[in-house]
Amino acid sequence: MEAKLTREQANDLLHKYVKGENYIVHSYAVEAIMRGLAKKLAPDDVEYWGICGLLHDLDEETAPWRDDFATHGPVSCQILQDEGFGDPVMENAIKSHNPACGKNPETTLEYALIAADPMSGFIKAIAQIYPDKKVASVKHKSVTKRFKEARFAAGANRQYMSLIEKTGMSMDEFIDIALESMTEIADVLGL
Ligand SMILES: [Fe+2]
Repeated sequence: MEAKLTREQANDLLHKYVKGENYIVHSYAVEAIMRGLAKKLAPDDVEYWGICGLLHDLDEETAPWRDDFATHGPVSCQILQDEGFGDPVMENAIKSHNPACGKNPETTLEYALIAADPMSGFIKAIAQIYPDKKVASVKHKSVTKRFKEARFAAGANRQYMSLIEKTGMSMDEFIDIALESMTEIADVLGL
């Protein structure tokens, strides 16, 4: 799949619309996991999947999602269109990471994105309870253990993470890929 925009243009767009450091770092984490997943699930589309990850929360600071959660996703798509980068495949992926906006995930790309989004925050939360706070220290088995503790990082949607299985990938492989992908850019993530 050929993206309408390059990774560099996507990064410029992210910085144009999103100023909060936490949101930007989160976008990089989801990009990294999406690239890792694509290497396995869609090897020809690694860049494309990465850009979808990078831009999935593009409207974080512009959509009125605190008042109406259904705006999170559609506003990102509007920005893409207004900037001349409208792309139905990418827009559907962005919308379906927030089913509250009315679009459920249906494709491999869409399942990967809705699963990668909470996984990035979940792994970050686990890293932060380690003495060194490093993602490199996070063990696979602590991720599976914490996954079952509903009260730990309760905001990380377990059901969404489990949707990775709809792509044919096991949760175990997903965890390994997410840990490896985030560790590769640990400096950028500050983890
Ligand atoms: Fe997100």
